[in-house]
Amino acid sequence: MPDKYLKLGILISGRGSDLQSVIDGIEKGEVAARISVVISNEPDALGLKRARRHHIPAIVVCHRDFTTRQAFEARLLEVLGEYGVGLVVLAGFMRLLTPFFLKEYPMKVINIHPALLPAFPGENVQQKAVDYGVRFAGCTVHFVDDGMDSGPIIAQAVVPVFSTDTGDVLADRILKQEHQIYPKVIHWIARGLVRVEGRRVHISGAGKDVESSLIEPVV
Ligand code: GAR
Repeated sequence: MPDKYLKLGILISGRGSDLQSVIDGIEKGEVAARISVVISNEPDALGLKRARRHHIPAIVVCHRDFTTRQAFEARLLEVLGEYGVGLVVLAGFMRLLTPFFLKEYPMKVINIHPALLPAFPGENVQQKAVDYGVRFAGCTVHFVDDGMDSGPIIAQAVVPVFSTDTGDVLADRILKQEHQIYPKVIHWIARGLVRVEGRRVHISGAGKDVESSLIEPVV
């Protein structure tokens, strides 16, 4: 009998709070998917413990154990295949995936990035946003292509940046929004509501607020 739930393979490198938000969304019945496996490229990642606490298989595939990137990715693919994964979810996974991996999951790999792409791709981006002096920051969920944080954008959430913010303070504010939008996007994909057309992503049933705007600072 076909499984009615989309099977997720979640790739992490560290703390796993985004992973936790997906686990919580599933447990609350808000995400029509199941996590088949969590894979970390870092053996000590806290996210592995979070997964095991919820009886989710949690596996280490450490990139340092492989002599080539392709061999590392081949092992990731092998594990994802063993667990029948239909959607690969990057949740603080700090390795770039190459076309060798991505061609096996075309438009079936998503990532969350703590910036309003295409501004601030790469690492340490909350601090970069503070240093640049932007008035708004946020997070982006996007399909993964072979560029750096460059694939089609599915959803974004915006937060204000205050002149007194540190990178860590801003990161915490953004993270709260990450935990809101990542489970939602996974649910939309699981329900078949997301369609990609070139760079543009359509979400069936999404509302529009044509008058919406944000101003910061508030005066
Ligand atoms: C999150 O802020 C996520 O957006 C970011 O790493 C953090 C992981 O936190 N991802 C990237 O920067 C990917 N380029 P977590 O381990 O607590 O989920």
